[in-house]
Parts: sequence; C-alpha cells; structure tokens
Amino acid sequence: MSNIKEIERRKTFAIISHPDAGKTTLTEKLLLFSGAIQIAGAVKSNKIRKTATSDFLEIEKQRGISVASSVLSFDYKGQKINLLDTPGHKDFAEDTYRTLTAVDSVILVIDCVKGVEEQTEKLMNVCRMRNTPVIILINKLDREGRDPFELLDEIEEKLSIKVRPLTFPFGIGVSFRGVYNLTENTFSFYKANKQFIEDDVKSFKGVDDPELKTIFGTDAKKLKDDIELINGVYEPFNKKDYLSGEVAPVFFGSALNNFGIRELLDTFVELAPRPIPRETTKGFIDPTNDKFSGFVFKIHANIDPKHRDRMAFVRICSGKFERNTYYHHVRLNRDMKFPNPASFLAQSKSLVETAYPGDVIGLYDSDTFKIGDTLTEGESFMFKGIPRFSPEIFRVVMNKDPFKSKQLEKGLRQLTDEGLAQLFIQPDTNRKVIGVVGELQFDVIKYRLLQEFGATADFTFMNAYKAFWLKYKSEDDVDEMKRLRSNSLYVDKTNELVFIAESSFALSRAQEKNPKVEFLSQVEHNDQTVEQGY
Ligand code: G4P
Repeated sequence: MSNIKEIERRKTFAIISHPDAGKTTLTEKLLLFSGAIQIAGAVKSNKIRKTATSDFLEIEKQRGISVASSVLSFDYKGQKINLLDTPGHKDFAEDTYRTLTAVDSVILVIDCVKGVEEQTEKLMNVCRMRNTPVIILINKLDREGRDPFELLDEIEEKLSIKVRPLTFPFGIGVSFRGVYNLTENTFSFYKANKQFIEDDVKSFKGVDDPELKTIFGTDAKKLKDDIELINGVYEPFNKKDYLSGEVAPVFFGSALNNFGIRELLDTFVELAPRPIPRETTKGFIDPTNDKFSGFVFKIHANIDPKHRDRMAFVRICSGKFERNTYYHHVRLNRDMKFPNPASFLAQSKSLVETAYPGDVIGLYDSDTFKIGDTLTEGESFMFKGIPRFSPEIFRVVMNKDPFKSKQLEKGLRQLTDEGLAQLFIQPDTNRKVIGVVGELQFDVIKYRLLQEFGATADFTFMNAYKAFWLKYKSEDDVDEMKRLRSNSLYVDKTNELVFIAESSFALSRAQEKNPKVEFLSQVEHNDQTVEQGY
C-alpha cells in the first residue's frame, strides 16, 4: 500500500469525439487551463486532416506528431493528469478502442450543431462495455447550434446513457451569453477569446435572486425557467451513478474560446476516478497491489525514422515501475529490463525513473511486444478486456516481388502486431487476408511495407461481410465448417479459427448448420474464449 498517495492523485483519461467536434482544441485548452502551456496554438493537431488517401508523406508526418502527443501528462490542483490521445481519423478507430482500455474515464465532446454522430456512438459502445465513467462537453456554443434540451434527449436516446447537466447555456450562437453553473449558482459571461483565459463570473443566491433580473432584464425569466426545468426533469447528480457509467454529467462551452472549460476541468479533477482495478486471466488486480503489473495497449513504430525502433505504450496497473529493473514478459516467459523508459510531460518526452498505477510509459521495443502483452514481477497472468472487432474491409494480399516474400511476411507480422490491421491466413492455401476499419489503413500498410521492409504488396478486392471468431468445445463441432466451408475459414495470429462470411446470408446458413458453434464478431486479446485452433 506504499504507493497509495501516488495512486490517489492520478487521473488517467481520454477525450473522445466524432472528428471535428473539437477534441484537439479541448486538449489544448486543458493544457492551457492547467498552466502546462501559456498560450493557445502551441499544440499541433494530431489528426490526419482531410488528407487525400494517397498522401503518404502527410500520413507519416502526422504519425510523427501523434507520437509526441500520445500521452500528455500535467499537474492540476495537486493531481497528476494523464491524458491519452486518440487518433482523430475514423480509419484508425481501432487504435482508439484499444486506448480506451487503458483509461479510467473519458470526456466526450459533442458538436452542438451536429449532435450525436456515428463515431460518437461507436466510441460510446466501447465505453459501455467497461462501464467507463463519462463526462460530456457540448461544444461550439458560439455557433448556431441545436436546442440544448433536444441535444440532451438525443444523447440519452442514441448513446443509452442518462445525462445530468451541471451547467446550462443561455442563448446560442450570436445570442450566446454564457453558462449558468447549477451546482454553484454562478453565471459565467461569455467572451470570445481564442488565446487567453478571461473569467467573468457572477454568483447568485439561486434562481430567485433579484440580481438575475437586474442583469438579464426580461430574459431572466427564460433563464430561471430553464434552470427550474432541469432541476425538475433530471435527478440530482449522484457521483456513484457517474462512477458506474450510468449517468454522465454534461457541460456546455466553446473550447475554441476557452469558455466553459474551467468548470469542466474542475469537475473532472473532483469526480473522475483514480486508477481502478483491472481484470486479468487470474481475477482482478487492484492498483494498490504492491507488485508491479502493466499491459501494452498501443505500439508505435518509427519514432525515429533513422532507426527501426518501435515504442510500446504500457499502462501501469499496480505496484511501482522502476527503470533498469527486471520484469516478467508473460507471453514470452522471459525477464527483461528497460534502461530507457520514456514518460511524457506536457509535450516533451523524458526518461522515467519510477512510475505508478495510472501512468503510461513508453518502452523502446524491437519486435518483442504485441498488443495485450503483460509485464509483471514474476506472476503469470495476462490483462483482459482489450477488444478485437471484426474488420470492416477485407483484401487479399498479393506479393508483387517474389524475391521479397520473407520481408513481406515479416512486415505483415510486425504491422499487425502493432494493431494497424488484422491478418487472417487460410491454412490450406496460405492465402493471406488483411482486414481493416478504413481504406486509409491499406495505404499506410503498403507504404510502410515498402519503406520499412522493402516489400511490395498489393491488395485485391475480396467479397466479405464480416469476420467471426468461432467458439466451440470439441473438434467435432466444427467438422461441417472444415469440410464444407473451408473456403471461408482462416486462422488469426493466435491460431484461432475465424469464419469470414461473404454475406449475412452465408453467416445465417453457417450458424444454422453448426448449432454448437458460437460466432463472435468481437473478442478480447488474452481471453481464452476460443479454445481450439485449426
Ligand atoms: P477534432 O480534434 O475533434 O477533430 O476537432 P478540432 O479540435 O480540430 O476542431 C475542429 C474544428 O472545429 C476546428 O476548426 C476548430 O477550430 C473548430 N472548433 C473547435 N472548438 C470550437 C468552438 O468552440 N467553436 C467554434 N466555432 N469552432 C470550434 P477548423 O477550421 O477545422 O481548423 P482550424 O483551422 O481552426 O484549426
């Protein structure tokens, strides 16, 4: 329990949003409010901006930027905040899903003009799988957005989470005057200022305070009605319901104008959970457990273009990590020490001597780590809960240079270890299929295979609907699949049997004929759900 003080002061979270809702802007503003940076404009966007799919160099440049900002750590009110960055581009959504397994809570940003968008729903589904606590920021109130009550209803409906506004806007767009803080009975007056923080806050003795009328004149009634409506419709805020992921407190603001962000940050540090226990193949591990443990949730290649280094990002779950100390790599059953672990402070990377639960460290790696790998002080368990989803697009790999087939194999293995794509291999024919979430990933894979491994590959169209991991008890259960559907059967990297269905009809047929087999479009790394291989 010697680490308890350090654990208590850590908050590890991610900001999630549909692209363009304001995630990058909010990240920067949190750094501004915490004092980690002094002036806005210092954080570069990490997203691959509206890039043409063929713009490889741009992708590479952007990847470089996103390494530097993969973890932003800063202090605020005596707490150590670790903000884990997620790629803004939807084609790299799987990276985001994995990062969500390494955080203890999230802030969700919604654009008040657009409301709940497709990517928001997907990301929230991942949060719900783990009951991750969520705080919501409805952003861009300086623009002509939708009615706030309508937005709140839409969030509840589409994201299946109850909401509880803790601030409420007065006006929107050109008539936006500020937000009322329902907990503190204060009103923050809106002033557009993109670079600096300007506070103009007035306290009231509640909605009946005559001062309201003095300041807002005839508009005071509307403000009073709105606040009374909220307090009437929504139950009082309860921290327990937030921590269990049932209720999301909601804030309104304009990240671009530094507005409404202080309320959000102050509430975040007060409410957000400290590092929480995590599930392993041998039960839950509490952060207060004295023995070190952690898992790899992200691997980033080519930190330095001159070397082939990769960096494995490890989330510390228990104990204390110390530089140059031997730890157990469970999958390889090997002890390893790390002389140059990196930590991330604001935006600079530095050598870390010790790190605690909730922290993320970067370990230089030459091909020893895969997503989901676990490090311990000797115990052999693996962290669970890192999801693998069926890819959405499938292509067959064609080797364009027969003299480089070894390089191609190696490249595919390494890139898929990083989690850039999923690889499925047909055992009889050795046909290789790459599955990704978005088209852009194919371009990145092609480019990196050539640049880093000297292999030339092409990807040809494949008629596929979805991949399903097969769960079954005995080999007999999959006999029909192997005899009659071998064309659609593959193994993944861990030798688990996967059925790539051509269509939903093909899936139904296979399910009908194989009642003892479970078809799973989503599994977890290190989850022993699939017991047999091919
Ligand atoms: P993302 O990371 O979620 O993809 O979004 P990002 O922060 O990059 O914001 C997307 C766009 O929305 C940016 O404009 C940004 O300036 C703008 N934005 C963010 N917050 C607010 C806000 O509160 N009000 C208004 N009006 N705009 C906001 P852009 O033109 O795409 O980029 P830029 O040239 O401004 O960087």
